[in-house]
Amino acid sequence: MIISPSFLAADLLNLKEQLKDLDESAAQWLHFDVMDGHFVPNISFGPNILEGIASGHNLVKDVHLMVEDPLKFANYFLPTKPDYLTIHYEAIDNSLEFVDFCIKNNIKPGISIKPNTPVEVLEEIADYFSLVLIMSVEPGFGNQKFIPKMLEKITYLNLKKHNYLISVDGGINVETAKLCKEVGVDVLVSGSYVFKGNIKENIESLL
Ligand code: DX5
Ligand code: ZN
Repeated sequence: MIISPSFLAADLLNLKEQLKDLDESAAQWLHFDVMDGHFVPNISFGPNILEGIASGHNLVKDVHLMVEDPLKFANYFLPTKPDYLTIHYEAIDNSLEFVDFCIKNNIKPGISIKPNTPVEVLEEIADYFSLVLIMSVEPGFGNQKFIPKMLEKITYLNLKKHNYLISVDGGINVETAKLCKEVGVDVLVSGSYVFKGNIKENIESLL
C-alpha cells in the first residue's frame, strides 16, 4: 500500500518542517494537485512550486492535473520531471495521445475519473496507463466527504487482470482507507487527514 500525501493540505507556513516529516514518514509519494480554475472551480499551484518543494526530497512526484487543456499543462510540468502525471478522462478527446507524450518523456501516465463518470468509460483505454485514479469526491477542494459508491469502481477494475496501479483520492482517513483496502486499492491519496496533527503517526495509521 502506497500513501501519497496531498500537498494541497500542507501548512504553507510550516512547509519545511512538514516536508521533513514526510521524508521521515512511511509515505513514498507526494500528490500534487494542479487546478486551472476552469476544469475545477479552484486554482492551486504551478510547476515552479513543485520544483521548489520537491528538490532535495526523494518522494515520488504524483502530479494530478485537474485542468481543461491537459497536454498544454503536461508540457509546463516537463521540467519538474514528474514520475506519474495524471489527467482527467473528462478533459481530453484522445487520451492515447497523452500516453504517447508520457512515454516519449519517460513519465508514467495516469487517468482519472470524476465521481459522476462511469468506470466503464475506461474499458478500452485503462491498460495503456500506469495509474487509474478514482476520485472519491468532486475534484477541486480538500477536506470533503468520501463517496462510498466509488468503492464499486475499484472493485470493477480489480475484476480484470491489469498492470496499472489503482489510486483513490478524496476523503481518505482511517475508516475510508480500510474500505478502500478491502476492495484492493494500491495508492491512497490523503490530504487533510495526513497534514492535521502528527504527520508521521497519521501516515502510519493509514497503513
Ligand atoms: C481534490 C484533490 C485531492 C485533495 C484530497 O480535488 O484532488 O487530492 O487534496 O484532499 P482530502 O484528503 O482532504 O480529501
Ligand atoms: Zn488530487
